[in-house]
Amino acid sequence: MKSQQIRQTFIDFYKSKQHEVVASAPMVMKNDPTLMFVNAGMNPFKEYFLGINESKHNRITDSQKCLRVSGKHNDLEEVGVDTYHHTMFEMLGNWSFGDYFKKEAIAWAWELLTEVYKIDKDCLYVTIFEGDASEKLDRDTEAYDYWKEFIAEDRILNGNKKDNFWEMGDQGPCGPCSEIHVDIRTPEEKAAVDGATLVNEDHPQVVEIWNLVFMQYNRMANGSLVDLPAKHVDTGMGFERLAMVMQDVKSNYDTDVFTPLIREIETITGHSYGKTEQEDIAIRVIADHVRAVSFSIADGQLPSNNGAGYVIRRILRRAIRYGFTYLNKKEPFIYMLVNTLSKQMGDAFPELKSQKNLILNVIKEEEQSFLRALDSGLVLLDSMITSAVSESKNTIDGNKAFELYDTYGFPIDLTALILREKGMELDEAGFDKAMAAQKSRSRAASETTTSDWTELRKDDAQEFIGYDKQEANVHITRYRKVTTKKDGDMYQLVFNMTPFYGESGGQTGDKGYLESTSGDTVYIIDTKKENGQTVHLTKNLPKNLDGSHRVVVDANQRHRTSSNHTATHLLHQALRKVLGDHVEQKGSMVRSASMRFDFSHFAKVTPEQLQEVENFVNARIREQLPLEENRSNTYDAAVEDGAMALFGEKYGRSAYY
Ligand code: SER
Repeated sequence: MKSQQIRQTFIDFYKSKQHEVVASAPMVMKNDPTLMFVNAGMNPFKEYFLGINESKHNRITDSQKCLRVSGKHNDLEEVGVDTYHHTMFEMLGNWSFGDYFKKEAIAWAWELLTEVYKIDKDCLYVTIFEGDASEKLDRDTEAYDYWKEFIAEDRILNGNKKDNFWEMGDQGPCGPCSEIHVDIRTPEEKAAVDGATLVNEDHPQVVEIWNLVFMQYNRMANGSLVDLPAKHVDTGMGFERLAMVMQDVKSNYDTDVFTPLIREIETITGHSYGKTEQEDIAIRVIADHVRAVSFSIADGQLPSNNGAGYVIRRILRRAIRYGFTYLNKKEPFIYMLVNTLSKQMGDAFPELKSQKNLILNVIKEEEQSFLRALDSGLVLLDSMITSAVSESKNTIDGNKAFELYDTYGFPIDLTALILREKGMELDEAGFDKAMAAQKSRSRAASETTTSDWTELRKDDAQEFIGYDKQEANVHITRYRKVTTKKDGDMYQLVFNMTPFYGESGGQTGDKGYLESTSGDTVYIIDTKKENGQTVHLTKNLPKNLDGSHRVVVDANQRHRTSSNHTATHLLHQALRKVLGDHVEQKGSMVRSASMRFDFSHFAKVTPEQLQEVENFVNARIREQLPLEENRSNTYDAAVEDGAMALFGEKYGRSAYY
């Protein structure tokens, strides 16, 4: 089965079980301060698990783009070295929000694997949670009992908290899980070593393919577990691993998800896959990383110097460095793979096709600048070596190597390799010390502690009324304290309804104030959207949290900000008219005093073109067009009517299947 068909079969199966099919959410997280990237298929649904909002559908299925390179789930260092970890991968998932639970989740997973995909039952093992005394959690006998209807009991294995209790992060929804593992070793290998002893032992051919999580708890800031308002199912199957099983190969990289990229790397570099371990690792690293970087750029996250952009830059640099060192590529070449990738995946993920030129150009430019930095680093390292030799030293000081790494981005393993070739040594302990000192400095600067929410009222989901009103009488439904090194103690308040616009779509959040009936006033210094709710930031808590409060938006500021927001859309239209339809918005920052608009175009905009853009925007403003609103339009109908969907927008997520 080709990978396209494998994906489609999964989706069709759950569609037949009354699941709503949705498209993958963007891989770059916009709305959750605890995450930079989607690292599991369930992230975009967190608000439903926590009961903050209600999903329109209680069963959903999709193939979600995930990236595991930072935070709790981080696979970066394994990638390329082994044959079954990836930075970016697809997670096939099915979800129940307060609907079916363990029984159906288990029965359907088994039916799909053994009857639809026809995977041999004798290759499969399942695990269940063995319980954990310190958490006061019992063994999951319920899951065990369901499994034993399908699979021999000696193939149902107990798993500990690390493997069989899934948590999204340090806080948030979690629960016991049941994993499905597959043993694709040869019959001789199976006869020699019992597969059950290899489950969860990092064997490349005895791997987990699917995780069924039974979400029922919320992990609180103090580490305790509390019951979620309802029980849910969250499953995630590794698409690339499933392809490995279905295509009867021994490595994810031998499936048709990767072979077209690998063939192209061989052609471009003249190195063959399958010859030496080092070159194979380099080829796998590049094939994997070009996907992660391309999908991120398509989702609007370009490489940059900080935050999510810096993570993407580091991934790309890791690929460049492997190409430089092991495939001897001193010129940009990774960008050339984007054509192949877009041909291969563009049907399932159309953003790769529509953004191809941008992806290609961004990668090329990054390659050029990092290769230049490597060149300067080499010169500097050379002078360090010369001066060490002149002092009859055989070692390069750890602090100096760290400076090279920190200031010039020069990779430490490359420094070590070059030194080894010259018969010299790196002061590794000194380097590690300098690195640790820097990490602890930056950790201290960015440390944030967030308390749990204190619930004051169980109101319905919060309502946004800010398109029509700028003042309202509201109740505070929940609040919590957030402490950062920079700002000290702050409070986040949620109301039952709010006229405050939370930062989104590049527009900064509203400011204003809250006044209690006693006359006590606190300023709302910012408003953000988080997991589907609008959160108001204050320096102090109102003295009396109960009762009704009058909240008032700073109307002048909102008016100027929303005018600037409208201006970004006019500017976008003007740029497309003057420069061409390839222009896409890549980001924006809209404040009350000014706005910034990032867009993709490959040449410098000429003064004449700028003038034309300006004239177009001013003419539209002067037309004073009357406001026409279609608030209840669906996403698809709006696009049909000519509305423009911007990168990375989740909206109602229509499906492409
Ligand atoms: N959330 C689970 C995982 O990532 C199942 O989707 O493994």
